[in-house]
Amino acid sequence: MACVVVVGSQWGDEGKGKVVDLLTEGVSGIVRFQGGNNAGHTLVVGGEKFILHLIPSGILYADKTSYIGNGVVVDPEVLLMEIDRLISRGVEVGPQRLRLSERAQVIMPYHKALDLAREKAKGGAAIGTTGRGIGPCYEDKAARVGVRVCDLLEPELLKAKIEANVKEKNFWLTSYYQEPALDPAAILEQYLAYGRRLAPHVTDVSLELDGLLKAGKNLLFEGAQGTHLDIDHGTYPYVTSSNPVAGSACTGAGVGVTRLNSVQGLVKAYTTRVGGGPFPTELLDATGEWLRDKGGEFGSTTGRPRRCGWLDAVVVRHAVRLSGITGLCITKLDVLTGLDKIKLCVAYRLPDGSTLEALPASLTRLAQCQPVYEEFAGWRDDLTGIRRYEDLPQACRVYLGRLSELAGAPLTLVSVGPERESTIMLKKVF
Ligand code: IMP
Repeated sequence: MACVVVVGSQWGDEGKGKVVDLLTEGVSGIVRFQGGNNAGHTLVVGGEKFILHLIPSGILYADKTSYIGNGVVVDPEVLLMEIDRLISRGVEVGPQRLRLSERAQVIMPYHKALDLAREKAKGGAAIGTTGRGIGPCYEDKAARVGVRVCDLLEPELLKAKIEANVKEKNFWLTSYYQEPALDPAAILEQYLAYGRRLAPHVTDVSLELDGLLKAGKNLLFEGAQGTHLDIDHGTYPYVTSSNPVAGSACTGAGVGVTRLNSVQGLVKAYTTRVGGGPFPTELLDATGEWLRDKGGEFGSTTGRPRRCGWLDAVVVRHAVRLSGITGLCITKLDVLTGLDKIKLCVAYRLPDGSTLEALPASLTRLAQCQPVYEEFAGWRDDLTGIRRYEDLPQACRVYLGRLSELAGAPLTLVSVGPERESTIMLKKVF
């Protein structure tokens, strides 16, 4: 029995889809534990491309069960669309293959309306959310007025919750944001219908996972977003509203902390960020554009161009500490092929000449941080066919070795292309 958590070490979009897909081979269950359809995990399986927003990547394998834990915020419309889309492509998504926590919070139309209205009202100070209602849904969870998946199956309770919530949200939407009001009766009808369709999938995920662990099975916990979008530890307020750090696998799926065995930290060979917020190693020049084009750095959820920059070891080291990362999975190393020089940020310099080796909480202070770079030789060799670490060009090994040293964690694997096979495995995970 082993429980492995996969988390993003940067600001999301580290290529978790491919790595989770690879590691899925050794497990019985794959579990999402936080976030919602703000995530977008891209996988290339058998030459076919799949983008999943809510359903764990394990759904593509007939002998695995996919779990959506209580810590996820679920938009039922999106979930059902994703199910239908997979079915139309020949993937089996029956109730026994996709399990949905009865305790997960439901994203309602007023969450999406408020997310969009707030961002619009903020103008230039907007967070750049995905507009999927994630923040407002987690707010209602904390305010104890949220709708849970189990509520979709109780018409009277759902009616009372929707009426009370819509009354309050309509006040904000119309009086404060000058947006149209929502109709509670229409929402009720729509969400009861969603509940009827989802009912066969609804379960106590914590209990089912416990059963699998007791039977000696392996589980993989698939984190969404990245460490620096964590609401507690990220670049607040330019963060998402959940905890993408590994610890939240326990609260977000109902699994005890003592059952986790290892944490794999995903690190893209350079850095990207979508939306607003600080990004010390951002490149606003031709190299940044080159990385965006070559790496295909456009959001898989919103299509927005991602901001690009050099790899930041301060950011990765922070993630290693926060999640107790035991191994690094490097992605998109092949994208760097062709650069003459590659820079790696090893610390930050403040205007008074002092250096910082960890991210400060204050964004004012972070904005003053200038990256301290070490420079590495680039390489021109095509990496995509390489399968053994020792066959990588010397320059790659020097770059990765230094990153591992600065981050304080060993390498588990290196991805050199989007296909499953384009991977160098250094260590077994299961
Ligand atoms: P929200 O999660 O939609 O509220 O967005 C908050 C911030 O997190 C914005 O900057 C988003 O661009 C960012 N974000 C949310 N989900 C992802 C993701 O899966 N990858 C990268 N950035 C994300």
